[in-house]
Amino acid sequence: MAAPCFLVLVVLAATASSARSAIAPNDEPSSISSNSVPPAKPKLSATSNWSCFPAERAALLAFKAGITSDPQNLLISWQQGHHDCCWWGGVTCSSRTGHVVKLDLRNCSPTPIEDELFDLEDPHNHSLRGQVSSSLLALRLSLRHLDLSMNTNLGDAMAMPGFLSSFQSLTYLNLSNMGFNARLGSLEHLNMASVNLSGVDDWFHTVNALPNLVVLNLDSCWLDMSNAPSSVRHHNLTVLEELDISDNSLNTLPASNWFWDVTSLKSLTLQDYNNIKGMTPETLEHMCNLKSLRLDSNNIGMDITKVLQKIPICSWKNLQELSLMDSNITGTTLQFVSNLTSIRILEFSFTKLSGSVPVEIGKLTNLNYLNLGYNNLSGVISEDHFSGLVHLKIIDLSHNNLELVIDSRWAPPFNLDSAFFKFCHLGPQFPKWLQGQQSINHLDISSTGLISRIPDWFWTAFSDARLLDTSLNQLSGNLPLSLEFMSVIVLSMQSNLLTGFIPKLPRTIVVLDISKNSLNGVVPNFQAAQLQVAVLFSNSITGTIPMSICRLRELRVLDLSNNFLSAELPDCGRKELKQRNPFINNSSRVNSTSSSGLKIITLLLSNNSLSSGFPLFTQQCPNLVFLDLTQNKFTGELPGWNSEAMPRLVMLRSIQNLKALTGTTTTDNTIYENPFEEIVYGNSDRPYMGEYNDSLSVVIKGQVLEYRKNTIYLVNIDLCCNSLTGEIPEELSALAGLVSLNLSSNLLSGNVPYKIGKLRSLESLDLSKNTLSGEIPQGLSDLTYLSYLNLSYNNLSGRIPSGYQLDILKADDPASMYIGNPGLCGHPIPRECPGPPTNPVANNDLESWSEDGLFQIDFVLGSGFVAGTWMASSNTLSLRVL
Ligand SMILES: *[C@@H]1O[C@H](CO)[C@@H](O)[C@H](O)[C@H]1NC(C)=O
Ligand SMILES: *[C@@H]1O[C@H](CO)[C@@H](O)[C@H](O)[C@H]1NC(C)=O
Ligand SMILES: *[C@@H]1O[C@H](CO)[C@@H](O)[C@H](O)[C@H]1NC(C)=O
Ligand SMILES: *[C@@H]1O[C@H](CO)[C@@H](O)[C@H](O)[C@H]1NC(C)=O
Ligand SMILES: *[C@@H]1O[C@H](CO)[C@@H](O)[C@H](O)[C@H]1NC(C)=O
Ligand SMILES: *[C@@H]1O[C@H](CO)[C@@H](O)[C@H](O)[C@H]1NC(C)=O
Ligand SMILES: *[C@@H]1O[C@H](CO)[C@@H](O)[C@H](O)[C@H]1NC(C)=O
Ligand SMILES: *[C@@H]1O[C@H](CO)[C@@H](O)[C@H](O)[C@H]1NC(C)=O
Ligand SMILES: *[C@@H]1O[C@H](CO)[C@@H](O)[C@H](O)[C@H]1NC(C)=O
Ligand SMILES: *[C@@H]1O[C@H](CO)[C@@H](O)[C@H](O)[C@H]1NC(C)=O
Repeated sequence: MAAPCFLVLVVLAATASSARSAIAPNDEPSSISSNSVPPAKPKLSATSNWSCFPAERAALLAFKAGITSDPQNLLISWQQGHHDCCWWGGVTCSSRTGHVVKLDLRNCSPTPIEDELFDLEDPHNHSLRGQVSSSLLALRLSLRHLDLSMNTNLGDAMAMPGFLSSFQSLTYLNLSNMGFNARLGSLEHLNMASVNLSGVDDWFHTVNALPNLVVLNLDSCWLDMSNAPSSVRHHNLTVLEELDISDNSLNTLPASNWFWDVTSLKSLTLQDYNNIKGMTPETLEHMCNLKSLRLDSNNIGMDITKVLQKIPICSWKNLQELSLMDSNITGTTLQFVSNLTSIRILEFSFTKLSGSVPVEIGKLTNLNYLNLGYNNLSGVISEDHFSGLVHLKIIDLSHNNLELVIDSRWAPPFNLDSAFFKFCHLGPQFPKWLQGQQSINHLDISSTGLISRIPDWFWTAFSDARLLDTSLNQLSGNLPLSLEFMSVIVLSMQSNLLTGFIPKLPRTIVVLDISKNSLNGVVPNFQAAQLQVAVLFSNSITGTIPMSICRLRELRVLDLSNNFLSAELPDCGRKELKQRNPFINNSSRVNSTSSSGLKIITLLLSNNSLSSGFPLFTQQCPNLVFLDLTQNKFTGELPGWNSEAMPRLVMLRSIQNLKALTGTTTTDNTIYENPFEEIVYGNSDRPYMGEYNDSLSVVIKGQVLEYRKNTIYLVNIDLCCNSLTGEIPEELSALAGLVSLNLSSNLLSGNVPYKIGKLRSLESLDLSKNTLSGEIPQGLSDLTYLSYLNLSYNNLSGRIPSGYQLDILKADDPASMYIGNPGLCGHPIPRECPGPPTNPVANNDLESWSEDGLFQIDFVLGSGFVAGTWMASSNTLSLRVL
């Protein structure tokens, strides 16, 4: 049966190298001289007449010369006299470089009218005829898209694969129905990665007609059970050595699956999202040649020894790579490893292994990569475990309960590139054997029980390292005066006992975390142009914040909270703004798109002695999401501030327990990862670091809220403990997304806004310790999500409203929410109100508020931060509200 045999290769740029070898060299690619380097972009002539690159024009004309018949006149515009070949039919050039990037000569089906006119219902009649000239090689550096599909009569197609392999930029190649598929029979490498084959039911038959195939890559091809060739009895792929079917949706692998029988297979990769449940067939008994088996990120659900039993004994001594990361595997013994004598890569991280690590692992002289991280392994690891590991480069034992007991005189047989020991026990002394590991790139010895001085050799031995993490230990001593000789990109030493001055930073540094130490002195001049994260909170840093932060164009996170910083923040060249009164002159608004803007997302400066006016610095930070300025000595007026200046602001004044930003562990052992850690690990080639999702959890009053990158909710206003004066602006009640409002411990006066019931999402409301007066609005009982309320210590009076949520709040001591307001009466406080309760007046005004969707309000944070007043104006802070 003549199944329509079609083959489309869409070669992704990323796999271009394999694609190059993907086509069998049938023919010597003829080359065109003088074209190894493309000429400079042609100039616009004085007459505004463009000419395309002459060499490319010549190549296209040579292609045309090879065509003997062009029934559809596809090439009629391809004329010597038409200089700009970019205008020729089917040709597209890059508007940027002028090079030909696309050639579309698809033989389209005739329209019905053409059919009638020419009586050509057969596509063969429309096909270009002749040769595909190798002159096209002139386009090999620039051409990205080539479509010659349906040209059934175009030959000599035999020659094509050979020279197509030279096209380095090709991302799209469609040779469908060119009638030479059968001639691809000699194809040895086929890379179909990321081609959507989900609608292609006969993909396997196409592949199966390629008996010389050695490498087959079907990674991310949208294959699922519906078009899996489960019933295939015979296959032609007798020389296939490498098969990659990763990242498809094959839920089970039937025992009859064709590739279990491919005895030639050396490498089988089935990782990522296949969600393969269990292992069938019972054994991979035919695969004696297997060298690499990768089943990561599946759901095997078996004991690891059972998995090993499925790998035929004949291949154990050949096996070089076994990767079972995150594949739901259990097991208490790894004894079998002693039989995997050729093994180079053992990847068992994120499985559920427990028990000890057998000392026999030290006999694996070929072992290069060992990852046992994120398991439940326990016991002692000694020198013997490493005795024969002369080739070990990468070791990860982190997140287990392992203890490394190693003599301080031990000289390791290996020279590591990366070592991850987080949460292993290495201490109390700093491991001396690390001193010899001077080629190390990544070293994580955080939380390893080190109680000692940080050795002087640390800085020199690891001066070429890219990631150094010694955090969460009790390391003492000073840092060197300068770290400029180092090449480190990520340096984390947080939560130790380090003293002395903050050193000059390495120029390469991207992430610095030296928080929670006892460092003093001033913030050094930042000379590190790449710096993205600077976390220095909870030290004893004095002085001012240096002007050099204005030059840190990549900075995303700056946390200097809990130090002794004083004076004013640099305004980064915008001093003049200070002189203007923003409420009068609109044009003094900061232009958020101005090129001088910084990229800071998180700016945490609380608990210092920073002074002067509201920092103009913040106006250079249009991307600010988290801003905490509390517990400082700011005075004076707030500048003009609008939604353009900080359109993404989610939290003004972070709260103390903002775990998300500090990466510390909460009591319930949930680890709130630093959301900016992706920057850290994005650079460090750590093999198992998965993608971080785009949300960050913010802890507000014990609630965990989701903040997602592209959704702008003002969820939290916390301006507690300032000296804010004036009234709470009524406009605040339009912030329908507001979840937490804390204005406690200020000098606010006036009424509680009577539209407060409009804050439908509000879960936490704290207005305590102000001088608010008048009655509590009945609307408060409309807040159905309210779980925390504090109105104590004000001057409120009248009957306490009741109903719904209000009646069940703070069940243990409801009166405490209202204590310190001598004028209040009624339940839950003991003072009775005079007279019967009156029905609350329905307030039509309430309905005038927009109920739906996105609208924008402007409200003011008033003038002044300490002597501040709240006031409404059209010229100030506006917040986008959902
Ligand atoms: C382009 O050049 C041709 C002849 O070389 C001339 O006839 C034509 O007017 C020119 N076009 C423009 C826009 O100058
Ligand atoms: C076009 O197709 C028809 C029907 O298949 C055939 O009879 C005719 O010879 C073809 N003409 C050419 C030029 O190939
Ligand atoms: C390749 O060309 C054929 C015929 O022109 C077309 O049907 C098909 O959609 C193309 N394939 C892709 C992936 O664009
Ligand atoms: C792949 O193709 C299927 C159907 O042919 C379609 O439903 C799916 O959206 C496609 N996926 C992508 C990423 O194009
Ligand atoms: C094996 O390949 C040949 C062509 O090389 C083909 O004719 C045959 O049908 C293939 N066998 C199977 C089972 O597909
Ligand atoms: C892991 O495998 C076990 C045993 O098959 C199964 O009970 C469990 O549900 C699996 N875990 C997950 C997360 O699927
Ligand atoms: C290692 O292989 C030998 C023979 O090949 C076998 O007797 C022994 O049980 C194997 N050890 C383990 C732990 O599987
Ligand atoms: C971890 O291992 C210990 C023994 O070393 C065992 O008691 C404990 O149950 C294991 N925990 C899990 C979650 O498997
Ligand atoms: C506002 O500022 C601009 C530019 O700084 C100035 O030209 C203009 O006169 C000012 N307008 C008022 C009303 O002060
Ligand atoms: C902000 O600056 C950009 C570029 O400097 C300019 O295009 C834009 O119009 C300015 N916007 C405002 C509101 O001034």
